[in-house]
Amino acid sequence: MESFVHLRKGITPARLHADLDGLKDDELGRGGFTGRTAQLYRRNEPMGYRAQGPLAPIDILADALEPTDSTDPAGSPLLLFSNADCQILLSRRAQEMPFFARYVDGDLLSFVHKGTGLLETEFGPLRYREGDWVYIPKACTFRQVPDSESTWLMIEATEEFRVPPAGPLGRHFPFDPSRIVVPEPQAMDDDGRDEYEVRLVHEGGPTSLFYQHHPLDVVGWQGDNFPFTFNIADYNVVLCDTVHLPATVHLFMQATGVYVMNFLPKRAESAPGTETIPWYHRNADYDEIAFFHGGDMYGVPMPPGLISHAPQGVHHGAPEKMRERARRKREEITRIGWTTIAVDTRRRLTPSPEVMAANLGAH
Ligand SMILES: [Fe+2]
Repeated sequence: MESFVHLRKGITPARLHADLDGLKDDELGRGGFTGRTAQLYRRNEPMGYRAQGPLAPIDILADALEPTDSTDPAGSPLLLFSNADCQILLSRRAQEMPFFARYVDGDLLSFVHKGTGLLETEFGPLRYREGDWVYIPKACTFRQVPDSESTWLMIEATEEFRVPPAGPLGRHFPFDPSRIVVPEPQAMDDDGRDEYEVRLVHEGGPTSLFYQHHPLDVVGWQGDNFPFTFNIADYNVVLCDTVHLPATVHLFMQATGVYVMNFLPKRAESAPGTETIPWYHRNADYDEIAFFHGGDMYGVPMPPGLISHAPQGVHHGAPEKMRERARRKREEITRIGWTTIAVDTRRRLTPSPEVMAANLGAH
């Protein structure tokens, strides 16, 4: 519960996230960035540690991982991280699915990092392209037909994905709902095969159901539970010139214990003395996954497909050198060029053995 008491002790800058005068700005907060909080102004960089033990941060490159669906049409995405509320998977499907898929343990929200293609669903076909979010409701049957190898970061949430409630910014935030693409019904004809496999993806599975008719035979539908795509090019970035806004401002969709955000290119904060790089923090209540889709960070190119895991309670943040550079070059670097997808989870995430094996071990 938030408190009305806010104290100020010792040496503190007058403004939040500004005029640091050599101090390191470190947030110790609850509830992501929306609960009780304290800024700690330190002498030293809180990232200056050597980690030993299971809570060390992880960095992996998507291209170094090999989901079985990248080489085998009958293969599956690779599990990266999991907890009781969600699974985070990587797919690199190159060929069309010879089966139909149905994720029966939860809603699927997938980000298209690379590739284009077709998603045949019970509700009708959807095209996908780079930068799309693809939402597929729990237990909806679909089949992916890629035009080319397609890299998807997939988040399966145990409870429903929902758009967060409209706040003071109104109904067009976090996004204008009229910009989503919804399929038109298109019943598929039988193609002469003996039976059609619908693979149920679930814990302890899979289970396959075999139909003697085409499973995508819906001629019409109505209601408010349907798949859709939304491209990040249509996402409106909220700006503030005098203070860097917390990550939670960029919330896109949420499920119980799972929060998905888009960090997209934007103008850097221009008020003199304002820090343009997010402050150090240890996110006491959330594990954080960042997926670097592309772009640059204050003029430094980002490796596309880099996946970072910051466990709750462990400090993270851009290195001090990058902060000094951003301060020095603030007249030149007027934009923040990152395109990053973030998934914050309330419960601790367990990395899969494949992730541990591919860990670049930055710390
Ligand atoms: Fe963070």
